[in-house]
Amino acid sequence: MKKILITEFMEQDSVNKISELFDVNYDPSLHENIERLSSQIVSVDAIIVRNKTQLNEALLTKARKLRFVGRLGVGLDNIDIDYCSEKSIVVQPATGMNADSVAEYVISCSLSLLKNIPPAHQGTVSGKWPRSPIKSRELQGKTIGLLGFGVIGKKVSMLAQAFGSKIVAYDPYIPQSDAKKYNTSLVKSRDLFECSDIISIHLPLTNETKNLLNYSSFSEMKNKPIIINSSRGSIVNQRDLVKAYNDGLISGFALDVYESEPVKENFYSNISSTMNCILTPHTAGVTIESNTRVGQFIADKTIQFFN
Ligand SMILES: NC(=O)c1ccc[n+]([C@@H]2O[C@H](COP(=O)([O-])OP(=O)(O)OC[C@H]3O[C@@H](n4cnc5c(N)ncnc54)[C@H](O)[C@@H]3O)[C@@H](O)[C@H]2O)c1
Repeated sequence: MKKILITEFMEQDSVNKISELFDVNYDPSLHENIERLSSQIVSVDAIIVRNKTQLNEALLTKARKLRFVGRLGVGLDNIDIDYCSEKSIVVQPATGMNADSVAEYVISCSLSLLKNIPPAHQGTVSGKWPRSPIKSRELQGKTIGLLGFGVIGKKVSMLAQAFGSKIVAYDPYIPQSDAKKYNTSLVKSRDLFECSDIISIHLPLTNETKNLLNYSSFSEMKNKPIIINSSRGSIVNQRDLVKAYNDGLISGFALDVYESEPVKENFYSNISSTMNCILTPHTAGVTIESNTRVGQFIADKTIQFFN
């Protein structure tokens, strides 16, 4: 019987489904114990992970029988893809399964930050009744710039257009015709910086995208936009982001992902409750519904692979 190791949270019905066919070890905190993980990975045919298990070369060399990696999510930066392809280990992400959750997160942050909800809430609960200093705005008529126009970028585009927003995107790897189907114009990154009221990032972390938003790019932004990053932390220079906010180059930001996770004190200690910002703990893609979709998808793919 094939052995499957699950090292992080997986929705229980999906665990049950694969347990009917395989010898499953479901240990959702195993990713925290590298020593135990190293000894268990030796004998398994498949491993199922979220984003906390670091499947690096040192660990993968121990996995002599491994043929399949199921990723309960889409980012693959915790997996040594080159090593897997060299050893013919199939890596299966849950492509698109949490895209709706992330797209809704982007819309909810856009609305909250345009309406200055974080400082309005803080002012109200501290008895300040901040009616006049808070200048709310509408999503209707705003330009949203999407960095990356893949699965999630396209979902955000469709939702935002229902609010009457105009969408531009920077993605040199897709054809203009693809964007046109979504009523979206492809533009250069510099033009996107210049015209957007909200900039939302939907890129993979690569050598090209690392540190893409830094003080120099914030300085090119003309409309004091709101910045939303739900992709990968290191795409935005966090120190520069806070400096850009304090210098008035941007009017708010939402971060779901960070240069290191959990977020470090030397970053969050710079955030005050009066700032127009929202910080969440890498949960944009995690909803009750997406957990079910992601779990079922990876369970089905694991079963198909070994059949
Ligand atoms: N916060 C969360 O919970 C969460 C959940 C799901 C996905 N994500 C992250 O969101 C990001 C986007 O996911 P997706 O499913 O839309 O990915 P995707 O692969 O469908 O889309 C990424 C797009 O980025 C484009 N791209 C790549 N390199 C580029 C570059 N240098 N410049 C401009 N465009 C470039 C690609 O052409 C592609 O269209 C990923 O980083 C993923 O890990 C986060």
